Amino acid sequence: MPPPLRDIYDSFAETYEANRGLFDMSEILAPFFAGLGVPKGRLLDLGCGAGEPFPRFFLDRGWEVYGVDFSKKMLHLAAQYAPEMHTICADMLEVAFDPAHFDALTCIYSLFHVPRARHPELFAKFHRWLRPGGKALFTYAAKEYTGEDEFEGFREFMGQNLFYSHTSPAKLRAAIERAGLRVESIALREIGGESFLWVTAERPRA
Ligand SMILES: C[S@@+](CC[C@H](N)C(=O)[O-])C[C@H]1O[C@@H](n2cnc3c(N)ncnc32)[C@H](O)[C@@H]1O
Repeated sequence: MPPPLRDIYDSFAETYEANRGLFDMSEILAPFFAGLGVPKGRLLDLGCGAGEPFPRFFLDRGWEVYGVDFSKKMLHLAAQYAPEMHTICADMLEVAFDPAHFDALTCIYSLFHVPRARHPELFAKFHRWLRPGGKALFTYAAKEYTGEDEFEGFREFMGQNLFYSHTSPAKLRAAIERAGLRVESIALREIGGESFLWVTAERPRA
């Protein structure tokens, strides 16, 4: 059995972060930010890592940002790259926030490490934590990455065996909608030679 995921991220935090800047995320960040329709607000980033590039982008625009990650080493780096971010060292499945507290929520390259049986409860929390009209953006694994329509198991990443879990795009859409969110887009994108689904969903206003 490979070591726990948080230990793996602790072990390669520096190398991960050193490579993070190689990929330009502005094509995703800029339209999501513009679609929020508010110049300033509050962002929750789950699996924030070292705070780049999503938390950093929002901080640079005057947003208040809360980052959750269970890797102490990743958060240690976040103190360097995104010192203004409020950080919470915890499993994203365990944290709690007030209802309607956030204007935006991101979960970038991290939800796919959470067992898919727990995704519906996280989507329900996304709905609860976002204000009406607030939006979520997250990365989701698909067969273009794991080779299967639905997958739960281990895949090699940076020389380590990491746990990944996802359901099919159709089941994903249904789970998001069951949580009361409106799916804006589910798009497959290749970035840095890896293809994932990028999902945007809104908490409807009424
Ligand atoms: C691939 S990194 C992505 C980091 C950052 N979001 C980025 O875009 O570079 C995945 C991050 O998610 C964190 N993570 C994975 N599962 C988590 C969980 N259940 N709770 C909190 N953090 C988690 C890891 O510690 C790691 O920092």
